[in-house]
Amino acid sequence: MHFPTLIRLLAAISTVSGFGHFPKRDYEENDYFTLHIRSSESPQEVARTLQLRYEGPLGNLPDHHTFYAKKGSHNADGTLTQLKSTLKKRELVPRELEGILWSAKSELKPGRLVKRGPVPPPPEGWIVPNRNVFIPRDDLMTKQNDIADKLQIRDPTFKEQWHLMNIVQPGHDINVTGVWMEGITGKNTTVAIIDDGLDMYSDDLKDNYFAEGSYDFNDHNPEPRPKLAADHHGTRCAGEIAAVKNDVCGVGVAYDAKVAGLRILSKAISDEDEAVAINYNFHKNLIYSCSWGPPDNGRAMDAPNTLIKRAMQHGIQDGRAGLGSIFVFAAGNGARQEDNCNFDGYTNSIYSITVGAIDRTGAHPYYSEKCSAALVVTYSSGAGDAIHTTDVGQANCYERHGGTSAAAPLVAGVMALVLEIRPDLNWRDVQYLAIETAVPLNEGEDWQDTYIGKKYSHTYAYGKVDAYALVQKAKDWKSVKPQAWFTSPWQYVRHDIPQGDQGLASTFQVTPEMIKAANIARLEHVQVTMNVDHTRRGDLSVELISPKGAYSHLSVTRRYDESPNGYDSWTFMSVVHWGEPGDGNWTIIVKDTVENEHIGTFTDWRLRLWGESIDASKAKPFPMPLDEDDDDDKEVQPAPVFTTSVSVPPTTSLAPHPTDHQDRPTAIKPPNDAIVTTSATSVVATTSSTTSATSSAATSTATNAYSLPSIFPTFGVSPRTQIWIYGAIAAIIIFCVALGAFFCVWRRRRGRTDRMDYEFEMVNDSDADGANQPLSGDGHRKRRGGELYDAFAGGSDEELFSDEEEEQYKDEKPSTGTRQGDDDPDDYSEKHGRGRITK
Ligand SMILES: *[C@@H]1O[C@H](CO)[C@@H](O)[C@H](O)[C@H]1NC(C)=O
Ligand SMILES: *[C@@H]1O[C@H](CO)[C@@H](O)[C@H](O)[C@H]1NC(C)=O
Ligand SMILES: *[C@@H]1O[C@H](CO)[C@@H](O)[C@H](O)[C@H]1NC(C)=O
Repeated sequence: MHFPTLIRLLAAISTVSGFGHFPKRDYEENDYFTLHIRSSESPQEVARTLQLRYEGPLGNLPDHHTFYAKKGSHNADGTLTQLKSTLKKRELVPRELEGILWSAKSELKPGRLVKRGPVPPPPEGWIVPNRNVFIPRDDLMTKQNDIADKLQIRDPTFKEQWHLMNIVQPGHDINVTGVWMEGITGKNTTVAIIDDGLDMYSDDLKDNYFAEGSYDFNDHNPEPRPKLAADHHGTRCAGEIAAVKNDVCGVGVAYDAKVAGLRILSKAISDEDEAVAINYNFHKNLIYSCSWGPPDNGRAMDAPNTLIKRAMQHGIQDGRAGLGSIFVFAAGNGARQEDNCNFDGYTNSIYSITVGAIDRTGAHPYYSEKCSAALVVTYSSGAGDAIHTTDVGQANCYERHGGTSAAAPLVAGVMALVLEIRPDLNWRDVQYLAIETAVPLNEGEDWQDTYIGKKYSHTYAYGKVDAYALVQKAKDWKSVKPQAWFTSPWQYVRHDIPQGDQGLASTFQVTPEMIKAANIARLEHVQVTMNVDHTRRGDLSVELISPKGAYSHLSVTRRYDESPNGYDSWTFMSVVHWGEPGDGNWTIIVKDTVENEHIGTFTDWRLRLWGESIDASKAKPFPMPLDEDDDDDKEVQPAPVFTTSVSVPPTTSLAPHPTDHQDRPTAIKPPNDAIVTTSATSVVATTSSTTSATSSAATSTATNAYSLPSIFPTFGVSPRTQIWIYGAIAAIIIFCVALGAFFCVWRRRRGRTDRMDYEFEMVNDSDADGANQPLSGDGHRKRRGGELYDAFAGGSDEELFSDEEEEQYKDEKPSTGTRQGDDDPDDYSEKHGRGRITK
């Protein structure tokens, strides 16, 4: 029975031992495909069927293989597309294709991922303290000398590494020296830096370099050495984690840990290579430090595709001998562009620890992104200083490393300290530890009390990391039970979103029975997947209110986000509800607070609750994700909707601008029933009473579809027989769905045409600086576009792969004036950083 498991194990071992030879691919000449095939199937056979050549297994991802063929020499594209639609329609699959479970064609997408290094210049009027006025406290200087003596730290820049011990602003450091004093320095742990390389010949890194866990996926070379002029980022991050205690520069947080380099950011990378990098040597690389992601321009809404999601999940389920790889991600530097880490599928993954930044005075720096998926914050650039670390070169140091890029590696380093003493902790244990020991700061800004007595802020997450407290807590931490989850049916809303402060609300009631049946003892992460049509995505915001009254700003308005695509099965995540029981009414409120000609419809949503299991023996691994568009025949359930004027405290914005909704009612956390209490006049309708034949037809379909899947899996017959059995039922349902869909599309089309007219009308709106018409004037928009250009200008040589849209903004440059603040010392962009290498 466990034969397939054995094969998987053998395959995994053979890939791990024989790694290091990933073929260089030629995307100009060839087409590449990744296929997930049944383990009983021979990849060679599949290759013959599809007229492809077999390249080999894809990293250590079980049963995933890569195939290729010269462009134009095969028909795999067509065959696989047909297979997908056959599977979707639950039709019989031709015998020779039966073994193919999933497939994806590989593409190189330049500009998809960028480093979190360059920080845009601060907003006008941002006051930056002069570093020269920082006066060290005598007593702390003495203490620092004492600690350095005891630990024999002679690194010349250790005393400038304020993030390790701050002798100017007491308490504003990661509080790690006490951990070192206990002899905990990261021994026997390895952190992999997924970035633009790692200078393994630096005197400050070479003794801690872990070659076995390293690879260059950009140039296909076992050694991920930085090659391009801009390849500094990974080395600087590595220095923060594991710069050796010696006579070069400073020390890392875990100066006896090993560091590996996985070079992926120096050229466009294929999904295959990224997937392999994320799982590279994942029993020995324990922690993956990732200071990159989709562009922070306030417009991107990008998630890793299915293959990369699978790789991340594989790392969680099988990495570190099954305890789970620890992924640490930088929240992003786009706060000034109103970017939010819930628009980034890496930072809002439940599998990543998302880290925001604070400066050396403990304040929130203007660049650090907020979101309900952020777990903790830690120190980085701002307040006139930055992180002092190692640089590329034999003995080069760098004193201006910044952005959330520099924050994430500090947390990765702290996790290495934890794993030295507790290598048995799982990936969720360390998230618990981070939450348990985070220290809230600057209270009063946007903090709320959570159910478990913690405080959460969308700006500072659960607070800042305290390495000492975290390691102490880890010492006797009892591992949590395996993960369990509950997924609600799709809540079918399909209702226009009112403009203004009113929101469109929809509630899903989770009963105690549902929670119990899902084997959930207490909540951890909460996800909401939703579809919203809107002609200007940036106008939307979404709030989630839990049965216990805690709120998550799942989505916020973004002034630059002009996408007409709305939210397309987008999944938002929140860690705010950690520890709640989960049962009760979950309310989602979708708002369109910007009153303009852009309007939209809230189509549907689905709640997923993750948590610790009640009964560990019933826990099972979460199945590998499928493509988003495989969700078309989803189970749906009509949901009651109502408009509500209840509002939760808005996220504070550091860069006030006309779209700031300062007049938004800031009612304090609403009690449970307040949400449901809507004035009679504002109750719009439930789905079924939206009258038209269209919606009632669709509603009844929805109800039918809802009851179906529960029957589906419980047949003891072969899949083929099942298909036949359901054939008749399916035919009826498909007919109904098609009918519903037809009306739906027809209605939407009509809506779109109407809105198009408005879009053309708006061009001559001259109220450029009017408080209520943000971005409506053409000139106004140009000005903002220009700002955006400038915001990214500093980082242009690090941003090797600016996306096409960005180029457009660059073209607009002539229409903009020079921005103030470009020479601001707080600008840690490469423009200023370059050439500042100190020895
Ligand atoms: C930091 O660590 C020390 C132990 O070295 C501990 O006593 C202290 O409470 C921690 N926190 C702060 C803010 O210093
Ligand atoms: C290092 O870690 C491995 C695996 O966790 C363990 O077997 C080994 O004993 C550790 N070595 C030391 C010196 O702690
Ligand atoms: C939850 O919502 C349902 C209707 O969806 C309502 O009947 C019930 O009273 C609500 N429960 C609470 C605790 O508000």
